[in-house]
Amino acid sequence: MTETLRLPRDHVLIVGGGLAGLFAALNLSRPALVLASRPPQEGAASAWAQGGIAAALGAGDSPERHAADTLAVGGGINDAAIVRILTEEGPGRVAELAAMGVPFDRDADGGFALSREAGHSMARVARVSGDLAGKSIMETLVAHAVASERISRMEARALSLLQDGAGRVCGVLAAGEKGLIRIEASETLLAAGGVGGLYAVTTNPPSARGDALAMAARAGAVIADPEFVQFHPTAIDIGRDPAPLATEALRGEGATLTDRKGRRFMAQIHADAELAPRDIVARAIHRQVVSGAGAFLDARSAVGAAFPEHFPTVFAACMSAGVDPRTQPIPIAPAAHYHMGGISVDADGAASLAGLSACGECASTGAHGANRLASNSLLEAVVFGGRIAARLNDTLSPPVRRSDCETPARLGADGLARLRGAMARHAGVERTRDGLRKLMADIDDLSGRQGEGNALTAARLIGAAALAREESRGAHFRADFPAAAPAADRTRLRLADLAPEPACAPALEGCA
Ligand code: SIN
Repeated sequence: MTETLRLPRDHVLIVGGGLAGLFAALNLSRPALVLASRPPQEGAASAWAQGGIAAALGAGDSPERHAADTLAVGGGINDAAIVRILTEEGPGRVAELAAMGVPFDRDADGGFALSREAGHSMARVARVSGDLAGKSIMETLVAHAVASERISRMEARALSLLQDGAGRVCGVLAAGEKGLIRIEASETLLAAGGVGGLYAVTTNPPSARGDALAMAARAGAVIADPEFVQFHPTAIDIGRDPAPLATEALRGEGATLTDRKGRRFMAQIHADAELAPRDIVARAIHRQVVSGAGAFLDARSAVGAAFPEHFPTVFAACMSAGVDPRTQPIPIAPAAHYHMGGISVDADGAASLAGLSACGECASTGAHGANRLASNSLLEAVVFGGRIAARLNDTLSPPVRRSDCETPARLGADGLARLRGAMARHAGVERTRDGLRKLMADIDDLSGRQGEGNALTAARLIGAAALAREESRGAHFRADFPAAAPAADRTRLRLADLAPEPACAPALEGCA
C-alpha cells in the first residue's frame, strides 16, 4: 500500500538537499518540504566542492570579464543572456552567503581572498579555509534551514514525477524508510544533482545517477545538452570510488602536471599550459594515462609544507593512501565530474512542464555551454535557485490535483557496474561512433533484462545525444569527428524523440 502525503497548495516540494535546493528553500516566502535521500552534507555534491564560488569580486574584475571567460571556454553554445544574468547577479549572491555567515577567506584589507583556476583570466574564486568552500557553505545553509519554521525535511529518494491528466507535474513518488510514498504538491522543484555516478570513475557521490534527469525526461520534459559531461582532469588516482578530487586551485598556485619521469606535458599542448580550459587538460591527461606515460600533479614546490593548512581535504585524501603531497607527486586521472546538460529551463528555472522547476546540476540553463568554467557551478546554483524562489513567491499555484505515475525499474548492483563500465569506456573523455553504438546496445540489453530504471534512461539520453553530435566541442570529443562543426547549437530533445523507442517496462505500482 502506497502512502500519500498531500502538501497544502502554498507549499513547494524541493527534491534535493544540496546548495541549489536549500538556497531556493531559504529564499522562498512559501513553506517548503525538502526531500533528500541522505542526511544533509552526506549526499550532496555541493558539500564536496573544493575550489569555491567564482564571481567578479576582486579589484579590476567585472561581470563582463567573468562573462567573457565563461563564454571563451564554453565552446560557442552558451546562452549569452543566461551568462550575463549569472555573472551580474553573482557578486550579490556571494555577498548574501557571506551575510548568512559563510566564513570566506579574507585578504589583509577584509576583501575576499581569491584563487585562480583554469580558464579564468584572473583570480576570481572565493574560498573557505583553502579547499573547504562546499562543506562550509553547506554547513551554513543547513543551519539556516534547520532554524527556519517554513522549511521541513524528509528522507526519501524520489523515483518518478506525478502528473495530472493535462501533464502538469503534481509531486513525486518516492521510496522512503517505510516503503513507497506519493508526495503531492502544486509546485515541484528538482535540485537533485548530476550524473557522475553513471561512470566507473567519478568525483560525485553515489546518489548522482541521473534520477532527476530521467524522471523529468520520462514525464516528457525537454532535455538540453545531455552529451556534455565534464571530466575533472585531476581526480586522485588511488583506486577509490568515488575518486577524491585534487582541486584546480592547486594548479592556480603553480602546481605542475608531469609524466612519471617528471616531464611537464601541458606547455606543448596549450599556451596556458596547466591553466588551459578543463576539457583540454582532461584530454591531455587521459592520453598520458592511456599511453602508459602516467600523469601526476606535482605541488611540492608550489604548496609544499603549507599543504595541511591550505588544502586540508586534498592533503587528507593523499595521506590516507600513503601519498605525501609535500614530498611526492600525486597520481591523477580524469573523472566524470559535472553535467552541463540537464532539464532544459528558462532564466527563472521553469522547465517545459507546468508545475516543474529545476536548478543546480540537474538543470541546464545554458550558462556553461559545452564546457563549464571552474567554480561557476556553485554560483549557478545560488543565482538560479534564488530566481526560482522569486518566481514562485509571485505565483498563485493551482490546487494540488490527483495524479498518476509510473514506478521505474531498478538496476541491480551488477547491472549498475556494467553500465558504469560501459559509460566510462564509450561515453568518456574520448568517444567514437562504434563505442557509442556498443554503449546503446548495452543499455538496450540491460533495459530488456532489468527494465528501464532512471540510471538507464539518463545514460540513454547521454549516449544518444553523443552519438548524434558528429563533431567535437568542449567536453564532447569524438575521435572520429575531431573538429568542431562550423556552426552548432545546443541539443534539445525529449525522450520520445529517441529512436529506437526505449524499451520502457515500468511497473504501475501504487498509483491509483
Ligand atoms: C575544483 O576545485 O577543481 C573543482 C571546482 C569546480 O569543479 O568548479
